[in-house]
Amino acid sequence: MNILITGANRGIGLELVRQYAVEHWRVFATCRRPETARTLAELAEARPEVSIHRLDVTRSDDLRALAAELAGEPLDVLYNNAGVYLETHYEGPEPGALRYDDWMHTLEVNTLGPVRVTEALVDNVAASRRRLVAVNTSHMGSIADIRQPGSYYYRSSKAALNAAMRGLAAALEPRGIGVLLLHPGGVATRMGPSDGMDSAESVTGLRQRIDEYKARDSGRFLRFDGTEMPW
Ligand SMILES: NC(=O)c1ccc[n+]([C@@H]2O[C@H](COP(=O)([O-])OP(=O)(O)OC[C@H]3O[C@@H](n4cnc5c(N)ncnc54)[C@H](OP(=O)(O)O)[C@@H]3O)[C@@H](O)[C@H]2O)c1
Repeated sequence: MNILITGANRGIGLELVRQYAVEHWRVFATCRRPETARTLAELAEARPEVSIHRLDVTRSDDLRALAAELAGEPLDVLYNNAGVYLETHYEGPEPGALRYDDWMHTLEVNTLGPVRVTEALVDNVAASRRRLVAVNTSHMGSIADIRQPGSYYYRSSKAALNAAMRGLAAALEPRGIGVLLLHPGGVATRMGPSDGMDSAESVTGLRQRIDEYKARDSGRFLRFDGTEMPW
């Protein structure tokens, strides 16, 4: 089996690489700056299953180069993991407090990024046996769950991501490609809560969701433990 993972140099992405390599999957690990991705490089050194590829998900030149490099390579799972959280504790709406550049960047990475990556590599997914696009979205993209102000950039980016991925699930169904929206839970990474769970626990659950995936699950929004998430 083959998998491509974005944002694979740290956090949940790095743990996905580690666990899939242990399972002897062929892992295409992508990151913005391979030259500084030390832990990932050590992993790739120890594991012949892992190769490292440059990909900033906002850069169309990186995407073109990666698609050319992987032409004809089947991808059983395309895992859109990369994401950003750029927020102050702003609750609004005081004039001047929102940083619209940061909001735009968040949308570029978290919403447009996974769509761009999927568009660039969809033929690779179609050429595989598993034919699955997975995406790390968040419970913070659940509009039904919003009770507090704040986190406007991140929440809106993940809600829009959910909408786009549901649409892609319908668009890709005729090609036999599925789309799974996954919430990894609260994980102690640079982005996540410091008292969150270990990334190994979350990734064990995320891998289980991927193992259990059937075509009828396409477009579902699931927590790492399999619980259905509200939209
Ligand atoms: N941790 C949680 O509690 C939690 C909860 C819900 C959802 N999630 C989601 O899970 C995913 C992984 O989060 P994490 O907790 O592992 O966060 P993290 O430790 O902050 O890692 C984020 C990863 O995304 C990469 N990235 C950022 N901008 C990028 C870009 N333009 N192009 C390519 N890669 C980029 C980072 O690369 P650099 O090192 O180069 O910056 C890093 O590898 C995200 O989509 C996040 O929204 C996390």
